[in-house]
Amino acid sequence: MNNFHDNLPDQFFEREDESSDELFYESPRFTTHIDDATIHNLTHYYRETLPGSFRLLDLMSSWISHLPQEINYHQVAGLGMNADELKGNPQLDSYVVQNLNDNPQLDFADHSFDAVTIAVSIQYLIRPFEVFKEISRILSPGGKCIVAMSHRLFPTKAIYAFHVLPPADRFRLVSAYMHQAGEFSSIETVDRSPPNADPLWLVVGTKERDLN
Ligand SMILES: C[S@@+](CC[C@H](N)C(=O)[O-])C[C@H]1O[C@@H](n2cnc3c(N)ncnc32)[C@H](O)[C@@H]1O
Repeated sequence: MNNFHDNLPDQFFEREDESSDELFYESPRFTTHIDDATIHNLTHYYRETLPGSFRLLDLMSSWISHLPQEINYHQVAGLGMNADELKGNPQLDSYVVQNLNDNPQLDFADHSFDAVTIAVSIQYLIRPFEVFKEISRILSPGGKCIVAMSHRLFPTKAIYAFHVLPPADRFRLVSAYMHQAGEFSSIETVDRSPPNADPLWLVVGTKERDLN
């Protein structure tokens, strides 16, 4: 397959602050990163899309996963940078502290999750193609990857692409992360932005059911 990544400028994946992410995420931030109305719409999207029988992985997680409170998920694992935030997340059954920019390998078995969520964090990945290959590996056939984006970011840690590309091209870039992983049969973009609040743009990939 043509390697889409090779056609993108390396500069897209560079950041103003290339120091170790451990430094930046050393202290916990018990804050929200998008408006309440935007969180409300994200939770509602999860409610519509993720049944309680699902095993979920919240990648790039913190103290909040935005999952509907009334659904008792089969399993929710989290992966992020700050142990105190993850420990304080009431929706996680387990968590892993891992820097995906140093190590994009996910220490989970093939097909071990039915959905992977990434909320308002995709702009911090400098090796996204490797991470999405791993997401595709750990998803069960028919499983979903939901990437939720908005317009706020930690400017020094967000990759250059997210500073310069307009929203439609950011959609395309994240779709390309999934496309390049090779096993997503459908990749759709969904706009659930509330009025007068931070936007909510989703890229949703569904892994092929029939993996011969
Ligand atoms: C803006 S916060 C969003 C947190 C949470 N997903 C939410 O919706 O509130 C960015 C998150 O990305 C995670 N993150 C940033 N860089 C990371 C990296 N290199 N590896 C793993 N996670 C990372 C941090 O742990 C942090 O929780």
